[in-house]
Amino acid sequence: MLKTGKPRNPNMTETVILPNETAQSLSTLDPLLDVEAEVERLRREKNAVILAHYYQEGEIQDLADYVGDSLDLSRKAAATDADMIVFSGVRFMAEVAKILSPQKTVVIPDADAGCSLEDSCQAEAFKAWRDAHPDHISLTYINCSAEVKALSDVIVTSSSAEHIIKNLPKDQPILFAPDRHLGAYLQRKTGRDMVLWPGTCIVHEQFSAREITRLKSRHPGALVAAHPECPESIVEVSDHVGSTSQILKFVHDNPAKEFIVATEQHIIHQMQKDSPDKTFLAAPGADGGCNCANCPYMALNTLEKMYLAMANEAPRIELPEELRIAAKKPLERMLELAPPAKPSQNAA
Ligand code: 13P
Ligand code: SF4
Repeated sequence: MLKTGKPRNPNMTETVILPNETAQSLSTLDPLLDVEAEVERLRREKNAVILAHYYQEGEIQDLADYVGDSLDLSRKAAATDADMIVFSGVRFMAEVAKILSPQKTVVIPDADAGCSLEDSCQAEAFKAWRDAHPDHISLTYINCSAEVKALSDVIVTSSSAEHIIKNLPKDQPILFAPDRHLGAYLQRKTGRDMVLWPGTCIVHEQFSAREITRLKSRHPGALVAAHPECPESIVEVSDHVGSTSQILKFVHDNPAKEFIVATEQHIIHQMQKDSPDKTFLAAPGADGGCNCANCPYMALNTLEKMYLAMANEAPRIELPEELRIAAKKPLERMLELAPPAKPSQNAA
C-alpha cells in the first residue's frame, strides 16, 4: 500500500503522495460543515475541475464537472485548463492526469484508492516479462502504475483496446497486461494471439454465471450488460460487453426495460438518471447475495475526503520528471490511436 511522505523507492521512480501536514483531517472536521457548499467554494477559489469515474458514489458523480470512463477522463485530464484536478477515482487515474498535466495540482480524495490489477503487476516483474519477449509489442491496460506505463509501448483502455489491436500489423506479436480476462476477451474479438499477464479485477471476477442465469429466469425480459474485465463465463451469458461508457450507451439505446449489470454497481446511478423508466439489477456473485459488485478501492473516496483533499492540496500526486516523460509516451500513443471521442460523452 502506498505510504505518504516519502517515495517508496529511494531512486524516485515511484509516485509520491505528499503528506498533508497543515491538515484538517476527517477526525477534526466540523460535523455541521456544509461539505457540498465548501467543495463549491474551493472549486471556484482554486479553479479546480472535478473528474469522477462511473464507479464513484452517486453524490460524488453528481457534483463532478465530468463523469466518464478511463479514456474519457484521460482526454479530459489532458484538455482541461483548470489549475487543480480533483480526481475521484483510483490512484492510477490520478497519475494519468498528472502525467498529462504536470503543471497542474492533482489531488485524490484517498491515497489508498488502488486497484487489484495495478497491484498484480509490479514494475520489476513486468520488466522481466518484457525482457523475456523481446519481439513483442507491449499493450498495457491503463489500470497499472506509472512505472509499468513507462515500461510499455502503448496504453489501452477497455474502450480503445479492440480498435488499437485491430490496427496493429498482423505479424506483430503482442504482450497484454495486466488483466487476463480483458486480454482473453480481446483475443476472441480480434483473433490475435497475445501473451497474457495473469492479473484480474477483484470486482469483475466475482460475478457468477449461474446466479446471473437464475436472475434472468426470474426477469425473462432482462438483458445482461457486462464489462470485459469479467471472466469468459460471464461474457457468455451477456447480451452486451463493453467499457463503462459503452454499457451506458447500450442501456440507453436499447428499448428493453430491464437490465442486469455485470460491472461495478455505482454505474447504475448514471443509468437510472438517464433512463428513469428502466430497471437495473446489479449482477449477483456466487452466493447470490454478496456485495461483490462494489469496488473497495473506489469506495474509499467520500465527499468529506474530497473536500479535505481540495482544502489541504493533499494527498496529491507528484511524479519524478523522468518517470513522467517515460509514462507519457505510451499514453500519447493511445490518445493518437484510440477511436475519436463521441461528442455527447462526459458532461455530468
Ligand atoms: P472503464 O471505465 O474504462 O470501462 O474501466 C473500468 C474500470 O475498471 C476502471 O477501474
Ligand atoms: Fe481496479 Fe476492479 Fe476496482 Fe476497477 S473495479 S479500480 S479494475 S479493482
